[in-house]
Amino acid sequence: MRLAGRAAVLTGASNGIGAATARRFAAEGASVVIADLDEAAGNALASEIAAAGGKVEFACCDVSERADLEAAFDLCISRFGRFDILFNNAAVQDTRGILDATDEDFDAAVRINLRPVFIGMREAARRMIDCGNGGSIVNTSSTFAIVGSPGYAAYHATKGGISSLTRAAAIGLMEHGIRVNAICPGTVDTPGLRRGAAKTAADPEAAMRSYLALQPLKRFGTPEEIANAVLFLASDEASFVTGENLVADGGYTIV
Ligand SMILES: NC(=O)c1ccc[n+]([C@@H]2O[C@H](COP(=O)([O-])OP(=O)(O)OC[C@H]3O[C@@H](n4cnc5c(N)ncnc54)[C@H](O)[C@@H]3O)[C@@H](O)[C@H]2O)c1
Repeated sequence: MRLAGRAAVLTGASNGIGAATARRFAAEGASVVIADLDEAAGNALASEIAAAGGKVEFACCDVSERADLEAAFDLCISRFGRFDILFNNAAVQDTRGILDATDEDFDAAVRINLRPVFIGMREAARRMIDCGNGGSIVNTSSTFAIVGSPGYAAYHATKGGISSLTRAAAIGLMEHGIRVNAICPGTVDTPGLRRGAAKTAADPEAAMRSYLALQPLKRFGTPEEIANAVLFLASDEASFVTGENLVADGGYTIV
């Protein structure tokens, strides 16, 4: 088991990529805190993980509220006695392009997608240092931090910020034995992707087909494929990897 004895907090883990990663971490021996706004899905996932023998807590958490984030971290320490891994994964997608996005769209994207990654890393690192075991932080960026697209202007800005912040935090935390990396998923079939398709087009299925047409592998990624890459970054197998933006995109950014 690659995470035996470790304790992790995963934000945005009730659904999609975060949920697949929570399942994977628990299967690899980690105790997990699912920190998400979606109580119904989060509690159902916690029951599923517990039924499979995992140690798990659900924390109702809006990542844009610092107190919620800190409460999830403190729950990890009080319940599991340690805090080794943070997966900063929660985000929302604003789909509008540069000519249409409003000031409010931009501020909301920063408040939910970027600022909690900054605050979360700082507050998690302070606690990891107190625990004395080092740690590993993985932030969810995106291929949209690397390439452009017609819409999603504010979202692009937040993901670019996360990729850059990941490098800065990796340098700042290395002396404390804390590694910081980012995962840059390509197009992954999740509830979030399907919500984006529904927002941008009159015919969501046609939008999904248009996304599919852009995929070099002629399929979307699965949440489990991203979870595998996050597991690598979070585990000791990546002990010499820090400040990296690991792309898992089926070749989307190389063609
Ligand atoms: N699906 C993709 O194609 C894709 C591609 C690149 C990057 N990403 C990134 O991967 C991450 C997960 O995306 P997904 O597709 O699994 O999304 P999703 O919408 O399926 O799941 C996101 C989860 O985040 C939670 N969440 C949203 N706002 C929150 C808040 N304020 N506080 C706490 N939780 C909140 C939701 O309740 C949900 O459980 C995001 O950072 C997203 O930007 C996704």
